[in-house]
Amino acid sequence: TKVKALQEQLIDWYEKNHRKLPWRTTTNPYYIWISEIMLQQTRVDTVIDYYNRFVEKFPTIKDLASAEEEVVLKAWEGLGYYSRAKRIHQTAKILIEKYEGQMPQTYDEIRKLPGIGPYTAGAVASIAFHQAVPAVDGNVMRVFSRVFYIKEDITLNTTKKVMEEVGEKVVSRKNPSYFNQGLMELGALICTPTSPKCLICPLFQLCRARELGLQKELPLKQKK
Ligand code: ADE
Repeated sequence: TKVKALQEQLIDWYEKNHRKLPWRTTTNPYYIWISEIMLQQTRVDTVIDYYNRFVEKFPTIKDLASAEEEVVLKAWEGLGYYSRAKRIHQTAKILIEKYEGQMPQTYDEIRKLPGIGPYTAGAVASIAFHQAVPAVDGNVMRVFSRVFYIKEDITLNTTKKVMEEVGEKVVSRKNPSYFNQGLMELGALICTPTSPKCLICPLFQLCRARELGLQKELPLKQKK
């Protein structure tokens, strides 16, 4: 089937081609969480150093929770969006007080934590706990819009819902971690916004937009 082929091609490609990033050498849910929050508004190249310093300074959830806020903000200095740092710190305290200092192990429980949306919950649940749930960010929406030729405006919340549902249907049950990271990596390296590298894409044969020659027209984004 098409879904099976998509899973196999993508995971095989990811295994051979992924960048060796520091948060990819761990399945510690705390580290995965920190990396995903940092990556939400900041590029990979910048995040690498901040991530390494942050987990060295606060190696456990307990270390983070017991730090003074100004120390946490200092470690975040230069990354921007300081509300992210404040929320991570608050959430670490909640994990100590209500979750025995551990990240909960399922998507639904993770999703209940403050400041953790569907994307971050899906990333942590699939990468750290191998739960077969989607992790749909902007990169993944771009890949889906092209592969499945979805012409809805990706700035709409209804479209985000559609994309989440697509993610639920196609996520590999055997290896959700590599599948989701494969989609992110494909979006970052191959299925890029303006000049997608279709000729070296592992999904070339499966991609509906490519078949129609319309890959550059997607995703559709309402102009601001
Ligand atoms: N962007 C969002 N999550 C990512 C990850 N885990 N690796 C690289 N880029 C990302």
